[in-house]
Amino acid sequence: MESPVINVNPAKVETACMIVPVFKDGDLLPAADKLDDASERLIGQLLDRGDFEPSLGNVQLIPFAPGLGAERLLLVGLGERAKCGEGQLIKALDAAFATIVKLPLDDVAATFTDVPVGERDTAWKARVTLEAAHRACYRFDDFKSQPAPAPRLKSLTLLVSDQDETPQAELGARIGSAVGEGVSLTRTLGNLPGNVCTPRYLAEQAQKLAADTDGTLDVEILDEDALKALGANALLSVGQGSEEPSRLIIMQYRGAEDPDEAPHVLVGKGITFDSGGISLKPGAGMDEMKFDMCGAASVFGTMKTVLALKPKINIIGVVASAENMPDGRAIKPGDIVKTLKGLNVEILNTDAEGRMALCDALSYIERFKPASVVDIATLTGAAIIALGHHASGLLSNDDDLALDLLDAGENAWDRAWHLPLWDEYQSQLDSNFADLAHIGGRPAGTITAACFLSRFADAYPWAHLDIAGTAWSSGEKKGASGRPVGLLTQYLLDRETEANETRPSVE
Ligand code: BES
Ligand code: MN
Ligand code: ZN
Repeated sequence: MESPVINVNPAKVETACMIVPVFKDGDLLPAADKLDDASERLIGQLLDRGDFEPSLGNVQLIPFAPGLGAERLLLVGLGERAKCGEGQLIKALDAAFATIVKLPLDDVAATFTDVPVGERDTAWKARVTLEAAHRACYRFDDFKSQPAPAPRLKSLTLLVSDQDETPQAELGARIGSAVGEGVSLTRTLGNLPGNVCTPRYLAEQAQKLAADTDGTLDVEILDEDALKALGANALLSVGQGSEEPSRLIIMQYRGAEDPDEAPHVLVGKGITFDSGGISLKPGAGMDEMKFDMCGAASVFGTMKTVLALKPKINIIGVVASAENMPDGRAIKPGDIVKTLKGLNVEILNTDAEGRMALCDALSYIERFKPASVVDIATLTGAAIIALGHHASGLLSNDDDLALDLLDAGENAWDRAWHLPLWDEYQSQLDSNFADLAHIGGRPAGTITAACFLSRFADAYPWAHLDIAGTAWSSGEKKGASGRPVGLLTQYLLDRETEANETRPSVE
């Protein structure tokens, strides 16, 4: 999608539709005011007569607009001025673009950079506007014999009321567009059924990402023989009951001038279907366990975004992928597995497979001497009980890293919430038979899962995002959300900014 930024009188802009946000109270925003002046008070009159109610997310199409360059207006309610925060603006954006994509429009213009949202600057508003447009245009209809017509929107012009804001708006739009594309890839990988999206399919996606770029991405795929030779028995144990072979996928992006600069590493849980294994899950809703690779999907999506934005830091994406199935050869409760790190783990429930796949990946990446490591996983149902569907769970062995991620989540409006990783929880993993058990009973299931991972992540600053509640929606709107690509991208862009500030300057 194109997203030109312009600074002209909105009344003069020739577009198929001008999107105009309107508060319930107080004066019209500057762009709306200019449109109102040029159209014999079209907007003011609609409001006065009660023909448009600008409550939050309410939209109204005005099919023609006398005196304006725009062929149509789309009024979008922002609700009360005093209550307008990030969430409100994004709700209004989603409502606006949901209407836009149903109309036969190729190019629209929007004046959202006008909307006052706390301390948020023009770049931020441009970013969320582009993200929302991409979200609305997203379709997953490869398996529909007669798909609904695709949205036609090709160009979204952003109006700024001050020429000085143009570079900011352009930067924000560029980031928003790149994040939008990454989110779409993440959603598609998540939505694909388990009989298509297998560990081998994910490995192919990595190779495809690399092929689409000019050598900036190096991909390495470890197959089962390589994993055996390595001693990654924990990852292998997850897939041993499946006909689908497991894979460890490594994608290296070198953006820093120094190719040896310590990389930031993302590790995704890529269980392409989680039946629970011998500890079989109940049947109801089991189809949703095709989403158990959404952590991996977010690593792919973030890598795609990174390849578009080309930050000057080194980034490695790793995906631990397997299918968890019951079978005569499948791992059983009570079995003991020797991990890549050398620790023996007692498997107590084969449905706690994600941590087994991830622990070997966390050991594998020690070789990269990472500056930071973030793993992303649909790891525990308990994360949904604790946080519902709005916040991802965040646990970390490094408070600075945790704060950086919380901050990135706030800025990207893809928020996480910090849970404790205190030593007191670790004893829940004591085992009578092996070095440790891999589950810690019912209390604090999200925390004890992170405690397990922490035993394998002691060589670097590490954080874990449990996205079980945020990676997809159930019910009528069932589908992958694309989270937390926004958070991860922001985190990486912040690391680039930090590196620019602290790298010795070349003189
Ligand atoms: N993939 C699931 C976690 C999950 C459950 C995500 C529901 C989203 C919705 C994970 O592999 C799992 O089954 N975890 C178990 C762990 C338990 C056996 C300790 C869980 O949460 O019940
Ligand atoms: Mn499971
Ligand atoms: Zn799982």
